[in-house]
Amino acid sequence: MLQFILNNKLIKTEKNASSILLDFIRYDQHLKGTKSGCREGDCGACTVLVGTLKEGETEYKTMTSCLTPLGNIAGKHVVTVEGINGQNLTPVQKALDEHSGTQCGFCTPGFVVSLTAHAISKNKNSIEAANLSVSGNICRCTGYKSIERAVDDIVDNLKEKPKTASLNWLIKHNYLPEYFKDISKRLSEIITKNQKGKKIIGGGTDLYVQKPDVTSDTEASFYLNKNEYKEILEKDGIITVGASVTANEIMYSKIFNKYFPKIKDWFKLISSEQIRNVGTVAGNFVNASPIGDLTIFFLALNAELNLKSSKGKARKIALKNFYKGYKTLDLQKDEIIESLNFNTPKNNFNFNFEKVSKRTFLDIASVNTALSYTLAKNVIEDIHISGGGLAAIPKYFDKTRNFLKGKELNTSNINEASEILISEVSPISDIRGSKEYKSLLLKQLFFAHFEI
Ligand SMILES: Cc1cc2nc3c(=O)[nH]c(=O)nc-3n(C[C@H](O)[C@H](O)[C@H](O)COP(=O)(O)OP(=O)(O)OC[C@H]3O[C@@H](n4cnc5c(N)ncnc54)[C@H](O)[C@@H]3O)c2cc1C
Ligand code: FES
Ligand code: FES
Repeated sequence: MLQFILNNKLIKTEKNASSILLDFIRYDQHLKGTKSGCREGDCGACTVLVGTLKEGETEYKTMTSCLTPLGNIAGKHVVTVEGINGQNLTPVQKALDEHSGTQCGFCTPGFVVSLTAHAISKNKNSIEAANLSVSGNICRCTGYKSIERAVDDIVDNLKEKPKTASLNWLIKHNYLPEYFKDISKRLSEIITKNQKGKKIIGGGTDLYVQKPDVTSDTEASFYLNKNEYKEILEKDGIITVGASVTANEIMYSKIFNKYFPKIKDWFKLISSEQIRNVGTVAGNFVNASPIGDLTIFFLALNAELNLKSSKGKARKIALKNFYKGYKTLDLQKDEIIESLNFNTPKNNFNFNFEKVSKRTFLDIASVNTALSYTLAKNVIEDIHISGGGLAAIPKYFDKTRNFLKGKELNTSNINEASEILISEVSPISDIRGSKEYKSLLLKQLFFAHFEI
């Protein structure tokens, strides 16, 4: 029996935990405000809020319900647009209405839910942050300008929100209905049982796009919320990231922001708010897409994976050795990824990430690349370079590394290295660009890493 709260109602269901939340909302509960659009995580029409109890308080994040298995919301509070509605329009709905931010209305519940998530969020209230909250919501009617004006109003109105204990303020000002007051207490009373099955599901953002029917029928274990795989730790010169840590958890982590001050600029190019809220590092590695952004990021940190078999046998493997061929991994059937780790960056550490795609946001890369190096008296002590969209696997550039390691950092060496770099790849022409374009792009992005 799986339990959660849907809006103001406690749900107890015997449904398969792998089945899709969107279908449960629309066809079991007959809540038709949540729309079924692309069913691939792209349009945001199915966006819901999911509240998790943390230290006595409920924290809300958006998710695309079309890619969310029931197993990932066990013990949580799921809020659809019906669960936000009250007697009058909320300030978010009012702003969209007053600025003509809604026309046919198909996308509107998704925008309302995402912008309500911004209103509830503890993150900074800025236009940039509010726009980021709707980065996974697509509208085909308005041309976005009217939505942008509504966003300006919402951000303006939220300036009055107190920094702490804001729930009462949000209820008083009609952003949320009264019943939200009791949700934390009600969640603390729900008993959740770990579902067990052979297939591992993380955020489900690759599995439910690639094999929706098979995945929603399968017996699965749900890793997204497993506390033992959720930590980011810095200890004894090593940073460890649990397998189920999501892209957004990395993007907002204090540890990552300390060593990678530009991380928010880089990670906002990865998928959308809703997808980053659930897409995990291990999911990205195991999906083995040659353009996986998290894979390219951690390859350039020369990360190491910590694997464990069902018999409890532990094994370590460098991420660069994990990929054997197209979607072929050095991972046994009974092994899982527990975590990854990499050396804590030192003072002389430099890092950069670049991603070029056809559309700036919510698009996969034509080419992505990352590079880390340490310098001592202008000599490259060590260097790691990665690139995606250029080979059958996420590429680690061994030969270029061997050439540059121990060399002076100067234009002539970087120019020579760029020729070795492009000789290491064999891109194919596809809808993301011709092979010539991708090679040239790689070379230019390599120069951008050194800002020359
Ligand atoms: C709209 C949309 C946009 C996207 N944009 C991007 C993008 O810009 N860049 C990008 O890189 N990706 C993108 N993705 C892909 C996806 O979000 C990422 O690859 C994500 O990190 C996958 O993680 P997950 O937890 O959702 O994986 P899941 O779908 O849950 O799992 C993927 C695979 O990993 C396995 N797995 C999960 N955890 C473990 C574990 N601990 N041990 C062993 N195996 C495990 C699963 O069994 C499965 O085979 C996008 C996806 C969508 C739907
Ligand atoms: S239906 Fe389009 S994101 Fe879910
Ligand atoms: S109002 Fe029609 S899709 Fe946005």
